[in-house]
Amino acid sequence: MQTSLNDLEIIEGQTKILVPPDSVNAKVPPREPAFFNPRARLNRDFSIIAYSAFLENFVGPKIFFDGLSGIGARGLRVANEIKSIEKVIVNDLNPSALNLSLRSANLNNLLNYEISENETCRFLSSHSKKGSRATIVDVDPFGSPSKYIDCAIRATMHGGLFSATATDLQVLHGLANDACKRRYYGVPVKTEYGNEIAIRLILGCINMVAARFDVEIVPLFVENEMHYYRTYVKILNKPAHEEKIGYILHCNFCGNRIISEHQSNVCKLCNSKVIVAGPLWIGQLFSKEFVISMLEQIPNCSVDKKCEKILQSCILEAELPGTYFTLDEIASKMKCAPLSLKKAINKLQNGEFLASPTSLNFKGIRTNANINELKEIFAN
Ligand SMILES: C[S@@+](CC[C@H](N)C(=O)[O-])C[C@H]1O[C@@H](n2cnc3c(N)ncnc32)[C@H](O)[C@@H]1O
Ligand SMILES: [Zn+2]
Repeated sequence: MQTSLNDLEIIEGQTKILVPPDSVNAKVPPREPAFFNPRARLNRDFSIIAYSAFLENFVGPKIFFDGLSGIGARGLRVANEIKSIEKVIVNDLNPSALNLSLRSANLNNLLNYEISENETCRFLSSHSKKGSRATIVDVDPFGSPSKYIDCAIRATMHGGLFSATATDLQVLHGLANDACKRRYYGVPVKTEYGNEIAIRLILGCINMVAARFDVEIVPLFVENEMHYYRTYVKILNKPAHEEKIGYILHCNFCGNRIISEHQSNVCKLCNSKVIVAGPLWIGQLFSKEFVISMLEQIPNCSVDKKCEKILQSCILEAELPGTYFTLDEIASKMKCAPLSLKKAINKLQNGEFLASPTSLNFKGIRTNANINELKEIFAN
């Protein structure tokens, strides 16, 4: 309970945060006395940008819940850096983490910051009644967010935002398909674009859970760094009018891949047997309009320079088809050296195809060309 007097004061964004010294000195941040990962700064930067953009256009109370706050890094930054926020409640099971969090709030003179010591679902469920919900709910657990999705959605207002982190990468990348089916209701396949499949499995799970209580989700933004995935979805308390759950059918032989509402066994390009990922989310990953509004927030935010570049890429790819190709994958199929990203995109656009980089892979292209069309265009 008692935190050490040697706690370290760091600044992230514009916020002073007290952290256990080992969390910045040790190779892997320890869970005791409290957890803080300095390497997750980029994802907290994106939260500040996304929440600022979201709240700018939100009419109604502006309340943020952090269901698994640790020492409160995200909640402290939201309370301190987003001027329009009215109230932040951070929740965790670990009293030492909450104690640090409260001391950091005092250091920043925050008057809009509360702590709650409770199990995440108990905390969120105590706010599931209309009138006590939050505008934005975040869950950032160790591993999978799947067990918190239900209560997080119930604690989010109509028209609000639910953001979640997943760090169970092995499960989402096909090393434990039974566990993946249990957690996310679908299975991945191992491909060059495995991170997009992982994100679609998380969104698919959020959608399936939400659909049970007649809630529609609208993905606004997704993000991936080495050790985590983040999804941001709008919550609408009404049944979805369109089915957005389906499959990715991937042909290992020719590299063809199709996103489809229905399963199939055969590749339409080469007749080989396909491997099937899903059920998963087959709708858009980004709202172009929302990502533009995020980009507009950057001048007001103290965030990593990388954010701007990533958001520009998201805008370009927002309305393009699902699944990307990597330049290395195409080169290996063509048995030649990979083209530069710029050249590859130019060639496709000159060939009247849609093409853009993807924020999910710096060597990836999103396009409406299929693998045969790509090979033909790249060969000339
Ligand atoms: C990954 S850390 C959160 C990091 C934090 N969001 C940040 O940005 O620094 C996960 C936190 O969840 C807490 N936790 C784990 N299981 C919990 C549960 N069932 N209910 C409440 N808190 C829990 C842990 O004590 C830990 O502080
Ligand atoms: Zn094929």
